[in-house]
Amino acid sequence: LKRTTSARELLLAIGRGRGPTLRGQLESELRAAIRTGRLPGGTALPSTRALAADLGVSRGVTVLAYEQLIAEGYLTAATGSATRVATRPSHSAAPAAVARSVDAPRYDFRPGLPDVSVFPRRAWLSSLRRVLDAATGDALGYPDPRGALQARTALADYVNRTRATVAHPDRMVLCSGYAQGLRLLAAVLRSRGVRRVAVEDPGHGGQRADLQAMGLGVRPVPVDGGGLQVDRLRRLDVGAVLVTPAHQFPTGVVLAPERRAALLEWAAARRAVVIEDDYDAEYRFDREPIGALQGLAEGAVAYLGSASKTLAPALRIGWLLLPAALVDRVALAKLHADHGSPTLEQLAFADFLERDGLDRHLRKVRPIYRRRRDALLAALKSRLPGLRVEGVAAGLHLMVSLPPGTDEEALADAAMTQSVRIYGAGPHRSRPGPPALLLGYASLSESDIEAGVALLARVLATTASTARPRRARIWDPAERALAARVAADDAERGRQTG
Ligand SMILES: Cc1ncc(COP(=O)(O)O)c(C=O)c1O
Repeated sequence: LKRTTSARELLLAIGRGRGPTLRGQLESELRAAIRTGRLPGGTALPSTRALAADLGVSRGVTVLAYEQLIAEGYLTAATGSATRVATRPSHSAAPAAVARSVDAPRYDFRPGLPDVSVFPRRAWLSSLRRVLDAATGDALGYPDPRGALQARTALADYVNRTRATVAHPDRMVLCSGYAQGLRLLAAVLRSRGVRRVAVEDPGHGGQRADLQAMGLGVRPVPVDGGGLQVDRLRRLDVGAVLVTPAHQFPTGVVLAPERRAALLEWAAARRAVVIEDDYDAEYRFDREPIGALQGLAEGAVAYLGSASKTLAPALRIGWLLLPAALVDRVALAKLHADHGSPTLEQLAFADFLERDGLDRHLRKVRPIYRRRRDALLAALKSRLPGLRVEGVAAGLHLMVSLPPGTDEEALADAAMTQSVRIYGAGPHRSRPGPPALLLGYASLSESDIEAGVALLARVLATTASTARPRRARIWDPAERALAARVAADDAERGRQTG
């Protein structure tokens, strides 16, 4: 096994006494590397002289091998430049899973996405640089599974100040997005004997599936203009309830004050856990802020937050603020899952928070998002008058009712032909309901919003209604594409073994 020492390293296995000639071995090694995509199209190879020296073979061996592969179409040569791997699609067979899994449409109304083009790159980089400069050896070792103390402290201060929580760093666990936090919490609740969890209906379909995947049953409870119908909980045998009190997902309503009180009374009487998803409370345009439930009943509420809506989903920074009885169990689950989230990013986040970076960023983006929301409302009013619009006062998306009988999936497919991606409410319903769309507006410019809605209006006008609309199970296009590939693979394996 030889590793070339020219500037471009290339690991090739050739050796004397291995059977075929050295030249034959070199050719088949290169062919295999190109076929499997290890050497993608366009890759420059070492010169024949350098390769020969590195491999300890005569130059004639490498010259003849390159010539043979050029003749076969694996390599290309141009006078005066390096020999390269030919760019034929069959030679760059990237594995399907890393290929782009979904086409990017021109207008994507994905709900809940902030505008990542205004991510505070400079401030983040300064924070990252500062913490890297100051990092002690401890910061680069295995972390406290709850997360770096500075990050838990800065976050506790931030949520206490802006969300009226009662947070202490000891009660916080940082995790890889809200998504991981919910799964860790679900596993812990199950280990403590919880078997069923009440969820809002409509409510986030992905989270319903997360709870089920962790072995919990879900019991849908209807949502109306005042949020979750709390009185219905009394009839259910559940050990926890998942709610979005400040901004119900997906309807956008606020949990009514008397229901907040009733929910906490119910939880106290049942010794049940209230899981509070506080995912986008920072965004409100026409109403007063609403504090977190956690601040009223810290012993009963497991509070979850995320940087996905305020900064960028790619950070995968989420947090749990837990009742004392759950902290160690969740920390242990986090340790078992991944030994803790990346420390340097947490420290950068702490530095960013301490310098009021998030406050400044939110002050900057709120008016931008508000203008986009207004642009969406105006476009809907002019292009699709008559459709009822809900959940406009806060958040990053709104909900639009579709004419009865509209097949959300057929409409979404038709819209994709115009490069417009829209999202039906169906996957977020526990049972069939009136057709509706969730339209996210924060990541689109005002002119794109207008253009996208104009295209959508045209598509809607030509989409026939049906007596039996389809109902999608998965809302996220990337998850859908992956799940479809996995299902196809399962079916194929079933055919082979059965
Ligand atoms: C209702 C709701 N809660 C929480 C989240 C945050 O998820 P994460 O932090 O995993 O990105 C989202 C993001 O889509 C959401 O829609």
